Amino acid sequence: MSRIVMGIETSCDETGVGVVVLEPGHPPRLLADAVASSVEEHARFGGVVPEVASRAHVAALEPMVRRACDGAGVTLRDIDAIAVTAGPGLAGSLLVGVAAAKAYAAALDIPLYGVNHLAGHVAVDSLEHGALPRPCLSLLVSGGHTQLLRVDDVASTITELGSTVDDAAGEAYDKVARVLGLPYPGGPPIDKAAADGDPEAIAFPRGMTGPKDAAFDFSFSGLKTAVARWVEAAERRGEEIPIADVCASFQEAVVDVLTAKAVAAARDTSIDTLVISGGVAANGRLSALARQRCEAAGVTLRIPRPKLCTDNGAMIAALGAHVLGAGVKPSAPDFSANPALPVDMITV
Ligand code: KG4
Ligand code: ZN
Repeated sequence: MSRIVMGIETSCDETGVGVVVLEPGHPPRLLADAVASSVEEHARFGGVVPEVASRAHVAALEPMVRRACDGAGVTLRDIDAIAVTAGPGLAGSLLVGVAAAKAYAAALDIPLYGVNHLAGHVAVDSLEHGALPRPCLSLLVSGGHTQLLRVDDVASTITELGSTVDDAAGEAYDKVARVLGLPYPGGPPIDKAAADGDPEAIAFPRGMTGPKDAAFDFSFSGLKTAVARWVEAAERRGEEIPIADVCASFQEAVVDVLTAKAVAAARDTSIDTLVISGGVAANGRLSALARQRCEAAGVTLRIPRPKLCTDNGAMIAALGAHVLGAGVKPSAPDFSANPALPVDMITV
């Protein structure tokens, strides 16, 4: 018997609704993925404004549900279960999705799962590259998170091996973009500018790579400060800032550390599949260097296509399908959003 799962994502500034179908013995298959973003409303503030994001979710959610159902060729009556991001994320934004999901589930009299956004970023890869090997490693790199995870079962068992002690990788991109006068979010314009620059032009620091540092933790705030100091010094000397070289050198420092630590984790845990996801996984240089280093280390690399790397509803639908398929009990009707939901709590 095939089952249709709808996923609702509202943890930050994307309102995402995805629809997948789960057939016995197969990984979930994507039927539709509708995403509305309020990023342009936040751009002039240089970061997401929570109140603005919440209001945008209220406006966009129902249209995205309709668009996803139309795209999947289903009606609401065909949906067998709903999954919604319960955390982590912005409290007000999460509450919009959770409240809407509860209303849909009650009206349709179907099970509802409150699920973990971070696990969703891992689960989404099964839509593109098939079932996730058990175990696999996940490098999760987004605007809010930088984590190395051991994933024994995406529906039930995820262990954090390490995470950032300060800024997330995407956050570092966004802050460096601001220093350079590039638009928000900073990842795409830095990625683009870096293509014309020399990654070895400036030797920026590689955070947390000393012998005494935790092997699988990350730090990007020192790098961000080093870039800001370098730019200030050049400005003081009256020099024109070589934007492309600064971007390429900064980016190289980020992706060098990310890929080195991920490959070291694969070696140390003897896990031979690495999944990289989250918004920063859309970065061209990250995927190129990861591919090169994984190949040299005999590690199979999986990166979902860029549209599935940034926040979306398909990732929550995919995780919902895994959870449903694993026979997990639906969430209690009174569950709430948890802005600080830990990564090992896959369902609430
Ligand atoms: O996963 P995501 O869409 O949202 C969060 O959960 O945070 O990630 C957004 C982050 C932003 O910081 C953005 O600058 C970064 O992903 N990003 C990129 C690229 N595209 C988006 N970073 C580097 N290179 C890119 N091409
Ligand atoms: Zn995310």
